[in-house]
Amino acid sequence: MSERTLVLVKPDGVSRGLVGEVISRIERKGLRLAALELRTVDEATAKQHYAEHDGKSFFNDLVEFITGGPLVAIVVEGTRAISAFRQLAGGTDPVEKATPGTIRGDFGLEVQFNLVHGSDSVESAEREIKIWFPAL
Ligand code: CMP
Repeated sequence: MSERTLVLVKPDGVSRGLVGEVISRIERKGLRLAALELRTVDEATAKQHYAEHDGKSFFNDLVEFITGGPLVAIVVEGTRAISAFRQLAGGTDPVEKATPGTIRGDFGLEVQFNLVHGSDSVESAEREIKIWFPAL
């Protein structure tokens, strides 16, 4: 079933020059790009995007990190796009959870600086796409 998911190449991925690598993996998997924008996000948008983590110990650091430089927001679509991108990304912790061959497993070391975000459910994807691309 065709789905849409919201992918972010976070500021660490942009500053390390990994945007092309991430997009290439998305395309090689067979997924399509439906929208894409390089953007520096304000605090309100970052807090809205990460609302489910509000109150957690890492929340303020996360918001500061995500607003600290340009990121690339992408709407990715295709068959089982939500799980397919999460498979490409690997687990949240780039060392303990993500395996080699995944984006985080190949390029990441720290949980916070884990390079990419991908929606975790159909509901999250709809909510997040509305935040980042309200016109879609
Ligand atoms: P993401 O998939 O975007 O969802 C929430 C983000 O919070 C996560 O990737 C990490 O960047 C960050 N995060 C999750 N857990 C921790 C943690 N324990 N310490 C710091 N950052 C975290």
